[in-house]
Amino acid sequence: MSELTRRDFLKHASLGLAATGVAGLVLRAEAKPTAASKNIEISESVLQQMGEPPLPIVMQDNLKPTQKSQLGPFYRAGAPFRAKVTPPFEPGTVLIVSGRVWAFDTKRPLSGAVLDVWHVDHNGNYSSGDSSDKNGFRNRARLITSESGYYEFEAIHPIAYEPNPGFWRSAHIHYKITHPGYKTLITELFFEGDPKHDIDPLFQTALMVKIAKQQANGQTYESAIFDIVLEAGTGMQGD
Ligand SMILES: [Fe+2]
Repeated sequence: MSELTRRDFLKHASLGLAATGVAGLVLRAEAKPTAASKNIEISESVLQQMGEPPLPIVMQDNLKPTQKSQLGPFYRAGAPFRAKVTPPFEPGTVLIVSGRVWAFDTKRPLSGAVLDVWHVDHNGNYSSGDSSDKNGFRNRARLITSESGYYEFEAIHPIAYEPNPGFWRSAHIHYKITHPGYKTLITELFFEGDPKHDIDPLFQTALMVKIAKQQANGQTYESAIFDIVLEAGTGMQGD
């Protein structure tokens, strides 16, 4: 690596670390390089399993810029980057949400988009977002879309809840999506068939997804696909 290239790499790497809040991390002194496995044979079927599910990577004609929603009072910045939003054995029905983030101007997937997601637990409560609390970011996470704009996370199907007497929210998952060159989008995902849609003043049909029942290892879980379309520009989408 030339010195110029190396300097450029270090500059970008440190900017990336600073952006993700890990600039102060130091590898412990006794750490050794991780040993390679002796068996590196990987069958074709395993490689296929490792790939992304076959969601289309051509933007469908009917996709429009995704509708905005309200940020709400429970967003907390700084959630960890992870694809499992819930801790182990979180009560509730396991839900896998996947999709792609698209650019409306180019009709192409957007890689490197940052998604912030957060939802209530099985009692209708949000975690505190307090980083000094080990449960502070429970049911909150950030994800980065792959080179084909793909994202996937494991959560639970959140319940409907009543934040104020007489004010109901149908089950939903909040999203905040950012990407350089594109408007920031605050939105949320709703579930088809939720009985509280009619009494949730913030419900939007355009943001509703279908739930598919799946089976694995003798247990059932749910899956849903939520594609997101961003508009080029600055500021907030939908304003
Ligand atoms: Fe909410």
